[in-house]
Amino acid sequence: MSKSDLLLELYSNLSTTGALTFSSKALVNKMLSYTDIANAKLVVELGGGDGSITQGIMDRLSPDAELMVFEINRSFCDAMEKQFPMPNVQIICDSAENLELYLKGRKVDYVLSSLPFSLISKDATDQILYYTKNSLNEKGKFIQICYSYLLKKLFGKYFSKIETKFTMRNLPPAFVMICH
Ligand SMILES: C[S@@+](CC[C@H](N)C(=O)[O-])C[C@H]1O[C@@H](n2cnc3c(N)ncnc32)[C@H](O)[C@@H]1O
Repeated sequence: MSKSDLLLELYSNLSTTGALTFSSKALVNKMLSYTDIANAKLVVELGGGDGSITQGIMDRLSPDAELMVFEINRSFCDAMEKQFPMPNVQIICDSAENLELYLKGRKVDYVLSSLPFSLISKDATDQILYYTKNSLNEKGKFIQICYSYLLKKLFGKYFSKIETKFTMRNLPPAFVMICH
């Protein structure tokens, strides 16, 4: 899928994608600067989209570590399967609500998300955040890209410490919330 086809898919599904553009490289680098992906064993991404964050993770991930990417849009999943055919990457065309089903009790170093929580139902949001919190290992982090500072309150229901960063180097400018 070309970049313009990916963008068309994004615009055509605004009620589930929640964004007019994909994350910029600067935003992805900022998000990943709060991780140590090179020493991670298992990383989960929620809302893979065009693979912009996925690419940033793969640029840092050790070949013996694993990445699981959840994405509900079939076209995005097909494109990511072509872009990331590596054996240590699993593109899961299913909702992040089902995270626990795929992890089967395994613990995760980082859950990196660009999910549009403002558009996801309360029940689904609670399920995603509950499973995310439960799946992280002791030093694990949940890191979310978002456009509204108000989401901090939501994450505060599940995480005791939340650091908030901001960057203008994205359209629109974005927050990065690092939840421990
Ligand atoms: C704002 S886009 C982000 C895409 C890309 N990761 C980026 O940073 O530009 C959010 C993505 O989350 C996906 N998504 C929405 N709800 C989801 C869910 N419940 N489970 C998994 N993916 C979901 C959408 O299809 C969309 O691709």
